[in-house]
Amino acid sequence: MQGTPFNPISPQELDISNLFIGILIVGAVIFALVTGLVLYIMIRYRHRGGTEEPYQEFGRPRLEIAWTIAPAVLLVVILGFTIKTMAAVSPGPGDHPPDLIVTGYQWWWGIQYPTAGIVTANEVHLPVGKRMLLQLEGGDVIHDFWVPQLGRKMDMIPGHTNWLWVEPTQTGTFLGACAEYCGAEHAWMRIRVIVQPQAEFDAWQRQQAQAAVTPNGSDAAQGAMLFQQMTCASCHAVTETAASVQIGPNLTHFGSRDTIAAGVLDNTPDNLTKWLKDPFAVKPGNHMPNLQLTDSQIRDLVAYLEAQK
Ligand code: CUA
Repeated sequence: MQGTPFNPISPQELDISNLFIGILIVGAVIFALVTGLVLYIMIRYRHRGGTEEPYQEFGRPRLEIAWTIAPAVLLVVILGFTIKTMAAVSPGPGDHPPDLIVTGYQWWWGIQYPTAGIVTANEVHLPVGKRMLLQLEGGDVIHDFWVPQLGRKMDMIPGHTNWLWVEPTQTGTFLGACAEYCGAEHAWMRIRVIVQPQAEFDAWQRQQAQAAVTPNGSDAAQGAMLFQQMTCASCHAVTETAASVQIGPNLTHFGSRDTIAAGVLDNTPDNLTKWLKDPFAVKPGNHMPNLQLTDSQIRDLVAYLEAQK
């Protein structure tokens, strides 16, 4: 079951998954017991003709005390395991600086690696087998970072920092989504976590830390100019510095990403063309304006952006 908490890829999620499965089994046993007894009683004591009222019993204090105490004890036991799991998966940041800062926006994810000075969007890269601390922020309204196989849900609240430890133990691409309703495109606020061997992760970081690619070829060069003229640059940064505009996703290495618009479309020239032509048709309600670009303007912008590897 890819993409569910039943297939954990971190010790944090394994703890949560074990607790969840344990409670699920206890719940299933109780459900079967209660349903079974109700069915048994319905059949065993069904009306069998005759009109007289059956024997009525009022009160059985011992039995009533037992069925009050037993569930209470069970709930206390579950509470104990829950508190133990919470402490294990959320130990707080301590004095560890964040490895990543992830900010939720309507409807995309801003991602920074403060030490490496990298700014990217919508795709988190992590090295396998390393414990990483995520600092989670809300950029406009409340969002919630959730990659079910990786760890717990954590809210992203404007003005309040939350922390999340993750330690992926498997390489691969793992999908997540915003788990707090945040407006029209909440359902299309998807996140990809790409877990790589350390060397591959380091190479990715080196590549992302490089300055934007200088456009090569006339279409791409024209696209670079249009990017400034058509005011794309007022919302999107294509640069090497972290301190740049962050209204829309940073596009510095856009061409190296798998998807467009927080997971709505695969990142291909055709799909980027579709997106630039009419962002609302692809993702209704999103904040990217339709700039009424001509086909040739779109062609140049696609050449420029897809070259930003
Ligand atoms: Cu962001 Cu829901």
